Amino acid sequence: MNDPNGMFYKDGVWHLYYQWNPYGSKWQNMTWGHSSSTDLVNWNHHPAAIEANGLGAVFSGSSVVDTENTAGFGKNAVVALYTSADLSQIQSIAHSVDHGHTFEIYPGNPVITLESEARDPNMFWDTANNRWVLSLAHALDHEMLFFTSPDLKNWTLQSAFGKGKGAQDGVWECPDLFKLKVDGTDEEKWVLVCNINPGGPFGGSATQYFVGDFDGTTFKADTDADGNIPTKWMDYGKDHYATVSWSGAPDNRRTLIGWMSNWQYAAEVPTLQYRSANTLPREAGLFKNADGQIYMSSAPSPELVNIRDKEIVKVNNKSAGRKKRVFSLPVSNDGVCEILLDLDCRRADSVDIRIANNADESVTLRYNSLDHTLSFDRRHSGIVDFSQDFPAVTVAPTFENDKKISLRIFIDKSSMEVFGNNGKFVMTNLVFPTMPYSTLSISATGGSAKIENLKIYSIKEL
Ligand code: FRU
Repeated sequence: MNDPNGMFYKDGVWHLYYQWNPYGSKWQNMTWGHSSSTDLVNWNHHPAAIEANGLGAVFSGSSVVDTENTAGFGKNAVVALYTSADLSQIQSIAHSVDHGHTFEIYPGNPVITLESEARDPNMFWDTANNRWVLSLAHALDHEMLFFTSPDLKNWTLQSAFGKGKGAQDGVWECPDLFKLKVDGTDEEKWVLVCNINPGGPFGGSATQYFVGDFDGTTFKADTDADGNIPTKWMDYGKDHYATVSWSGAPDNRRTLIGWMSNWQYAAEVPTLQYRSANTLPREAGLFKNADGQIYMSSAPSPELVNIRDKEIVKVNNKSAGRKKRVFSLPVSNDGVCEILLDLDCRRADSVDIRIANNADESVTLRYNSLDHTLSFDRRHSGIVDFSQDFPAVTVAPTFENDKKISLRIFIDKSSMEVFGNNGKFVMTNLVFPTMPYSTLSISATGGSAKIENLKIYSIKEL
């Protein structure tokens, strides 16, 4: 599988589709696979929802619940809009009257055709203007196109955003556009998500975003003090791509999920019986940083606390210096666990958090209090030699200036997702240890660091 697709929430159920090859373990025969969940952590698998047809393979796209029957498929029909990919890329719709389990393809397809590659349509209902808005990646032109429609069938091109803006090295794919409140204020800003491949900060695929304003037809990005549009990244790992959000999530939530891999080596990862997974679900937010810019946060979705099992370590107020503190990680459920950790690093230059197993395979997270960064070194994390692009150190700015960081680290069998300061910075990286990581050690240089709160939970077998 690759990209998550067409996610919508309806009647208490989170629907998640994904780019899926039903006939093999490498990219081909793109189909919308389907799964659903009532709690974002336990997922049921369903038969494929949309399969390749006369117009081509079924690439990425989005779905909405058409509550007002604007398309004429019936009140509350689920309407999916996706890219039909064959010799060219055109946009098609399909609808479902059984909550997204089966879809009927619209005989009037395609609903949008353009001359150059365009894909991954992502739509929402614009309440201010009473019509649908669609963002479409004009992939090779490095821009997102915005269309509007009264009925999901007839689309009018309104504007384009992106040429020469932000990271431009790769193709632009999988857009998303939504409004969020800036933390602690009543200010609302728009976020334009723009996945790019290659051209990510650590090579290959990554998710950039722009913060700005959208008036129903045109997106305008915020600039910095010098009048430039800064490049912003949603995640500072190597394995976070094609991230988009659920349509219609409850309680004004903007819940996101990404594909946890990288096109540099997605087809070569050393896994058996599966190929690729999604990231954990995340909640998007906005915060104003000391540099005056507004950034996006992505914090673990609240439902994730429900998968905690036993608290196996609880430590308050210990210091770590040159002599390291060592803690055990859970052995149950193949070591799948969550680590929570608050660190006060005001009296240290750097702090190492080393997660290791008995085969001497390890990941080192290093907080550098001098430049306010956290790095993730997976060069010795286990099997790394299947691709020259896999061994890597990724680095995130920690968006704080008090030298205190609070981490939530989720370790799964082949991945680590590190959330810092409630999602202000995130790093998602695959790892392939040959046996589960079993220890966590913390040490510091240039003084000592305070471990203020450390909790380790094993995670239930789902
Ligand atoms: C992104 C992407 C999309 C496309 C899909 C095809 O990973 O390339 O642009 O729709 O994958 O599977």
